[in-house]
Order: sequence, then C-alpha cells, then structure tokens
Amino acid sequence: MDDYEELHAKSIADPEAFWAEQAAELSWQKSWHSVLDWNDAPFAKWFDGGKINAAENCLDRHVADGRGDEVAIYWVGEPGDTRNITFSELLSETCRFANAMIARGVKSGDRVLIYMPMVPEAAIAMLACARIGAVHSVVFGGFSATSIKDRLEDSEATTIITADGGWRRGNVVPLKANVDEALENYDAVENVFVLKRCENEIKMTEGRDAWWHDATADMSDFCPAEGFDAEHPLFILYTSGSTGKPKGILHTTGGYLTGTATTFKYVFDHQKDDIYWCTADVGWITGHSYIVYGPMANGAAQVMYEGAPNQPDWDRFWQIVAEYKVTIFYTAPTAIRAFIKAGDHHVDKHDLSSLRLLGTVGEPINPEAWMWYHEKIGAGRCPIVDTWWQTETGAIMITPLPGATPLKPGTATRPFLGIDAAILDETGEECGPNEGGKLVIRKPWPSMLRTIYKDPERFKETYWNEYEGIYLAGDGARTDDDSYFWIVGRLDDVLNVSGHRLGTAEVESALVSHEAVAEAAAVGRPHDIKGQAVVAFVTLKEGIDHGDELALELRQHVGAEIGAIAKPDDIRFTQTLPKTRSGKIMRRLLKEIVSGGEVKGDTTTLEDFNVVASLQKED
Ligand code: WTA
Repeated sequence: MDDYEELHAKSIADPEAFWAEQAAELSWQKSWHSVLDWNDAPFAKWFDGGKINAAENCLDRHVADGRGDEVAIYWVGEPGDTRNITFSELLSETCRFANAMIARGVKSGDRVLIYMPMVPEAAIAMLACARIGAVHSVVFGGFSATSIKDRLEDSEATTIITADGGWRRGNVVPLKANVDEALENYDAVENVFVLKRCENEIKMTEGRDAWWHDATADMSDFCPAEGFDAEHPLFILYTSGSTGKPKGILHTTGGYLTGTATTFKYVFDHQKDDIYWCTADVGWITGHSYIVYGPMANGAAQVMYEGAPNQPDWDRFWQIVAEYKVTIFYTAPTAIRAFIKAGDHHVDKHDLSSLRLLGTVGEPINPEAWMWYHEKIGAGRCPIVDTWWQTETGAIMITPLPGATPLKPGTATRPFLGIDAAILDETGEECGPNEGGKLVIRKPWPSMLRTIYKDPERFKETYWNEYEGIYLAGDGARTDDDSYFWIVGRLDDVLNVSGHRLGTAEVESALVSHEAVAEAAAVGRPHDIKGQAVVAFVTLKEGIDHGDELALELRQHVGAEIGAIAKPDDIRFTQTLPKTRSGKIMRRLLKEIVSGGEVKGDTTTLEDFNVVASLQKED
C-alpha cells in the first residue's frame, strides 16, 4: 500500500508522464508530438500526432510475437457448442471481414451498427471496424427495434452487422427480424451483414443484406492495418442520461486503448498463463473495454459465453469456470445476488480452485454479496477488485490493486494510477472524511469520452458545468478515514437496473408514447437482486379506464420501445402526479412512496397536498 501511495502521488503530480509511459507499451506506427492537449478544454486530445491501429494492437502484435497458435477466445455457446479460436485465426477472420466491408464500400469514418449475440464474430466485427477506421456502435442484443432505429438515426450508420438470432434461455432472440423492423420506412442503411447462428428463418433483402459467410467467402485474410490518428473515433456507445434519448458517448483510439490496456494489466494483475472471464455483454462498455480492447491488447486468453447464467441451470457459470480453469472472473453484483438466491449447492458441485482473482463492476456491491463472493466463490483466498467506472470514463477509475490494497467489502477503495478522483461539496470544496458529496475527476485521463456525438453542448453541460475544468461523474460518494471511496449511487434520474443504466425519462417517454397514457413518472425502488426496479406512476387520458389488461400492455409496450430491462416491475395508475407549482413532477416524493411509504422532507412546493395522501392510500 505504501508503494501504491507513492506511485499514485507521483502519477497525479505528472499524469502526462505516467500515461505516456503506459502508451509506449502499445505498438504505434508513428509517435505522438504532444501527450495531452487540453487547450480547448473540455475537448481533450491525447497523443496528438501519433498514429495507431487498435486491431493491430489486439491481434497482429501477438501473432508477430510468436503467439499466433495460442487460444485467444474459448467460446461457449448457450446450447453447449464450443469453439477455441487462436490469435492467428482471430486475425484472419478479422481481416476477411474487414475486406468484406471494404468490398461493400465501407470506409474509414463510416458508422457501423453492431447488433449481435455473444459470439466471437461480435468481437471480430468490432475489430474489423477498428482495422479500417470505421466507427462501431454496438447495440445490446436485448434492445428493441425502436432502440436500434433511434441509434441508427443519431449515428447515421449506413452498415449493420447482425445475426439471424442469438440464444437466450433456450430461446432464439430474433435479431435480424428486429433489424428488419427498425429498417421499415428507413432506407439510409446500405449494407446488412448477417451471421448464421441459430438457423432460424429470416428474410433477406436483395441488394442490401448479405450472409456473413457469403460476403467473406472470397476475401483475402490479409488486410493492411493502417495507422489512424490517435484521436480518430473508435466507437460510439449509447448510454442513458437524464433525458428521453440516450446519448452517444464518443471514444477515440490511442487514449482509449492506453486506458483499457493499462487498467487490464494492473487491476487484474494479468499474467501470461491466466484464463480470464468477463461475463458482460459486448453491448455494454464493460464488454468493449474488458472483453475486447483491454484483454486483447494484452494478449489475454479468455472465455466468452453466449447465454444466460441459469441455462440450463444456475450452475452454468461454475461449470464453465471449472472446465476452462478460469483464473480471473469479472462479473456484476446483480449476478452475485442472483447466485446467492439460487443456493450454494449449485456452486458446491464444481471445483473452483483455479480462481485466483475476482472482480465486480456496474453498481455498489452490498457487503453481504461481497462476503458470499469472497467465501463461496473465492474460498476466502481470492482478492476482489470492486471497480468503479463508467461508459464515459472508458476504463476503470477507482479500484483496489490486488495484493497491494487492503480490502473492505462495499468500497471500490482508491483511485487508479494517473486518476485524480475527489469528492466535492456544492461550493467546490473537497469534502472531509465521511462527508457526502459529488464524485469528480480533476484531471483529464486518456480514455475519457471526447464528446457526446453531434452534441458538444450537451457534453459540456452534462459533465463540465458544475465545476470549472473538472469532470462530474454524476455519482454521489464519500470517503472514509482511510480515504477509501464509497459510491452511493447516481445523483441524476438514472437508475441502475441489474447493473445497467436506465434513464427514468426514457421509460416515461416510452409510456407516454402509448395512446392511453397522459402522463407518466418512473422511479426506482430498491430490489433484492436487480439493485433497483422500475416503478411507474401513470395517469390516463380522459375517459380511459385501466381495466385488468392495461398494466400488462404498458409493460409490453415499454419492452417494445426500449427492451426487456426497461419494463416496469410495477405500474400504478393514479388520477394526478405530485407537482411543484412550476409543474415539475416531484420524483423525490414518488421515490419515498415506493421505497417505504412514508413521505419525509419538504413538500411545501407541492401544488396539491392531497395528491401525496391519495398516492399513499393507493399504495
Ligand atoms: C455505477 C459501467 C458503485 C455508477 C462500467 C456509475 C458503480 C454507473 C460501480 C456507470 C462500482 C459502476 N460501485 N457503482 N464498482 N461501477 N457503478 O456507464 O453509478 O454502465 O456512474 O458503466 O454505474 O454505468 P455504466
């Protein structure tokens, strides 16, 4: 820990020196002339003048090092089919697919939407985009046609990469059919590549759609890895904010790769013989940074699993850990809580002695879940790295360093090297120990988001307006007497449902798009397994009666508008919603009602005092 203190102090005294040293571990085609250009803050340029290819760093480099025959991905399909893919094979497939895209006119800078199951081709598609400088935007396979369309319109993507379907809990998720639905009355998409995965019946549109296997059949497995500017966009990933439309978080190449590669190496203490497994989906930032770019830049061997944790039963993960002798396992607290509920006998069936390090991400981990993870999965032997970070930060920001940081259940502990995290009060003063405040990052870091796609004003307003030149994370936090960071949760109207970000405004806008709904307010309620569950208060249009069916119909409607994760657990019909005199819905009151029933705090701005009383009665 003393070493950490010293290294950290040095790294934030001169972050540019620290990050330049890390970036130099990557393979650059041309060196940078400046490490950080912050003149146009908050628009950062890292490693300006440098040229780099992300795919080359993830693939060619390891093959050139003589590691081509080593397995990069141990893939496990949900139905039980498996594939082991070496670095050489991954490189050839990436080149072939990159050539297929080039042959169909995809160029550097074009946006490519990826909507895939968790199959190796999802990573191949991302790396193929990176190889040719196309900007990928992965859409989680659980999102709906409407969500695809919103992202298509915003990103102006002209190419889609998808599959006929993907396996989930024994069912086929109709990915291609969802894409077709998104493309009804929308003709800006020129190419749809379709991987055959489930052999389910699909429609192909002549001229626009091509099977992956046909498109790559005659392609060479050589595709040059052009060096792109360090600031060339690598991807856009949409994430929920406080408005109805998700924002496109833009990451660029050199800095993002530096951040993800460095954190992967140190936080997971990655060694040559490790078998790493991150259970995230590539549709989220964790899949981008800690399945694709971070591990692959380090040449890690990893497990990739297609399906659900309980298919066919709740021991599926442990069976995979035992079979592949996984050494590092990275998952979400919500999954851990679900395993606790499913029962220890699922764990006891398997030999987990290969594990040496555990990690969590996505939400605060409750001490009970931490203890179970530590004792039951880690046999009291494996450190747990509780990693705090965001889609926006690109890479892990607050985390223990295994072996160095003394652990405490429930805290992500201390900032990573080169990261100047702090907690500030309303006036911008740093909070003392045990004083709650706003989590910020005071100095730029290489994997930081560069902007919100096509909306630089929103970028400034959302993250940089509260404190001059300082990044506002949107989380509330405090430090303890050991300067450990305890993350309390979001300060904005963003929920964390099963470790996934969801804006209450998105759920509300989905609800009011239904013909029966006049107004809606969505809030979070604590939930044993999901962390938070969505509860929606709904007022109906004049003359409409909710009957028995409408709640169900509205849940389905939200599922179709956004995706299954956004479906409210509970829909409550009400005559009116509590509002301030200026007409703002008082979500705080609703939150108090759904989490305990008792309304505390100030209600003096409430327009109609009877509203709360009646909502509580309905409760
Ligand atoms: C929350 C996921 C507590 C936090 C990588 C953050 C966490 C949001 C942790 C980002 C953690 C993530 N402890 N809270 N270890 N990790 N969060 O963009 O509220 O999907 O702002 O990125 O998740 O979610 P996102």
